Amino acid sequence: MISSSTIFCSTHTWNLEQHSAEEDSDLEIDSRIYDRFLALLNISSDGPPTQSYITHFWDPSPSLRRDDNGDDVDLAWYQKTTLLESRTMIEAGTTGMRTWLASLVLAQYLIRHPDLVRGKRILELGSGIGFLGCVVATLQCLDHDYGAGTVWLSDVNETVLARCQDNVRLPCNTSSSHPNVRCCFLDWSAALDPDRIVVTKALLREEISPHLILGADIVFDPSLIPPLVAVLNLALRENPSASAIIALTERNPATMQKFVDAISNSEGLTWEQMDLGVINTAFVEGGPDTGNAVLVFKIQASRGTN
Ligand SMILES: C[S@@+](CC[C@H](N)C(=O)[O-])C[C@H]1O[C@@H](n2cnc3c(N)ncnc32)[C@H](O)[C@@H]1O
Repeated sequence: MISSSTIFCSTHTWNLEQHSAEEDSDLEIDSRIYDRFLALLNISSDGPPTQSYITHFWDPSPSLRRDDNGDDVDLAWYQKTTLLESRTMIEAGTTGMRTWLASLVLAQYLIRHPDLVRGKRILELGSGIGFLGCVVATLQCLDHDYGAGTVWLSDVNETVLARCQDNVRLPCNTSSSHPNVRCCFLDWSAALDPDRIVVTKALLREEISPHLILGADIVFDPSLIPPLVAVLNLALRENPSASAIIALTERNPATMQKFVDAISNSEGLTWEQMDLGVINTAFVEGGPDTGNAVLVFKIQASRGTN
């Protein structure tokens, strides 16, 4: 049962975000308001379990099927990706314990364009509990050439990373047979910290050395934008032939604009918005973000910078 103080806090946080967006103001909501909201959401109740195993079904070769009228769908064609997920928006003080809309949209795009990931070294930033990473690992396995590919799933939260590791290794998931899926701690703010930047640079260039960097739903708090853009800048400049594809659910236009301004002003980066052409997939129906747009950005290092 949701308490009246949670509803009060939720309503007022929403009103403040709306006001800030409508006024196009630079005012930011004091992080203590978010902290209070998170604390209230974490209060345990006697309700149903907050987490359960969710199986996502997906067709690895959608272009080969005639499923527009539903007549020719055969579940044997489908891959299944199962994850232990939270059913609440926030659990253990983090948003990382469930799969968010932008991950579902980006997964659908990669399923339609598997060459972007097959045999490649992939780094995901803020991977949460690993849905997108499991799909990418499965696409590499389906190519029967997965030895050549590597999937690095990174996050700042150790509880999230442990769950991610468990999900990737669930025996029912094809990703469990992939020999090169790694879950690693990577805090974006290290890219702004003189004491940690050297180690982070070495990790990005020498160990991970990504061809493609992915990120989904990793802009939800304006204070995370400078460290996120800093780590993208570092990763792309250390690996100048790499690209990043970042999918973001648009909840607050002012926050999205801040991200756009930050990548535009980040020296050495170029970016463009992508039209993924993903609409109404089985994945994207339902969930807390139904009706919100997902904006996708392709970001690269400018030629001649590193
Ligand atoms: C909204 S969740 C998105 C999870 C997943 N990508 C998805 O779309 O389902 C945001 C994730 O970003 C991670 N994150 C937040 N701040 C971070 C930071 N400074 N460094 C690395 N990851 C961070 C959180 O731990 C969380 O897992």
